[in-house]
Amino acid sequence: MWAFHNPVKIQFGAGALEMLADSLQGRPYALVTYCDPVFELLCDRITAQAGQPALVIDNIQPNPDFTELEVSCARWMSVEQPPEVIVALGGGSVIDTAKVLAAAGGNFHRVRRYLQEGEGRDQLAGVPIIAVPTTAGTGSEVTCWATVWHSEAQRKYSLALPELYPEVALVDPELTLELPLSLTVSTALDALSHALESLWNVNRNPISSAAAISAAREIIDWLPALVEEPQNLMLRSRIARAALMAGVAFSNTKTAIAHNISYPITLRYGTAHGEACSFTLPTILRTVVGHSAELDVLLAQIFGTPIEVGVEQLEQMLHRLGISTAYQDYGISDREWLEIVDEAFAGERGANFIGEKARFLAVGQQ
Ligand SMILES: NC(=O)c1ccc[n+]([C@@H]2O[C@H](COP(=O)([O-])OP(=O)(O)OC[C@H]3O[C@@H](n4cnc5c(N)ncnc54)[C@H](O)[C@@H]3O)[C@@H](O)[C@H]2O)c1
Ligand SMILES: [Fe+2]
Repeated sequence: MWAFHNPVKIQFGAGALEMLADSLQGRPYALVTYCDPVFELLCDRITAQAGQPALVIDNIQPNPDFTELEVSCARWMSVEQPPEVIVALGGGSVIDTAKVLAAAGGNFHRVRRYLQEGEGRDQLAGVPIIAVPTTAGTGSEVTCWATVWHSEAQRKYSLALPELYPEVALVDPELTLELPLSLTVSTALDALSHALESLWNVNRNPISSAAAISAAREIIDWLPALVEEPQNLMLRSRIARAALMAGVAFSNTKTAIAHNISYPITLRYGTAHGEACSFTLPTILRTVVGHSAELDVLLAQIFGTPIEVGVEQLEQMLHRLGISTAYQDYGISDREWLEIVDEAFAGERGANFIGEKARFLAVGQQ
């Protein structure tokens, strides 16, 4: 027996941003985005079609942290009439900030308390969100959780509530045309990681697996071509669709060991999320090949047979994209690596992984 659930209305395609006014239906909105000239132009396009926002929150930095989130939530209280809907224009950091704002309803303390103490669930709000992703990576436009960073305490939290599924996702690949190359690569690899993590996952189901296979194949087949031709809208569309499909896949499974290994690396060394959660993929794949006939059938649809050859090709692709697959290259000592791996397997996301720690470590030594 299995079930699949995802309530987000998805509008995909070049020009999807023009559907924003329709989605807003006249409701007063808060616009959440980065403070960046590229985004000023996009904000102008939004106000031209949807009218002035009731509130603009544009202090968003990569990897939303307790400190900035508190400031953003305080801004929410600076207007007399709280907005009825949040438009999140940006990558995962913007969409995740919007989720925190949606739950906090102006009071970050409530979210902090819920994250740190598990209390006050009934005080959390669920302001609707219209997500407009400008990276092709996180899939946050179709998930109900936000990654919340607390760098001072060197911790990462996940705010997960069913109310935080965006109401609408407007996925417009044209918005990714100006995404710099290094971000294009790291965000697409984040999506590849979501796809694979949803497959070697105790929670996978036939719909999540189908979405994951399609996403992983597209990224492996087309990311190298996109790097050669970043202005190609057809290639941007393929990767945007793949990231969306990967999001749909892991919206039902959550992530697993690659992500759990990544968080301390990002916290300690500032490694981009997409790089931190994808450099381990070849080792994890070698750990799970042969684990079960059912998983092998799924992996063969991505990597062909023998699966090991496809995994070797993936590793070469990562190297060509400038991603080292050796933890030592991220500044991690052997001892620290063992600690990170121990903690990652012991954590909640680690428990989603179907493979074994001893085998992962043994494969990594080879
Ligand atoms: N909620 C989820 O389901 C989920 C899943 C994966 C990752 N995340 C989180 O998302 C965050 C990472 O998000 P991200 O990788 O999308 O990047 P991001 O939102 O952190 O943005 C990174 C940089 O890209 C720039 N940028 C974004 N779009 C651009 C564009 N179209 N053109 C030019 N520059 C652009 C931004 O200005 C920013 O400096 C991390 O905090 C990660 O933990 C959340
Ligand atoms: Fe991720």
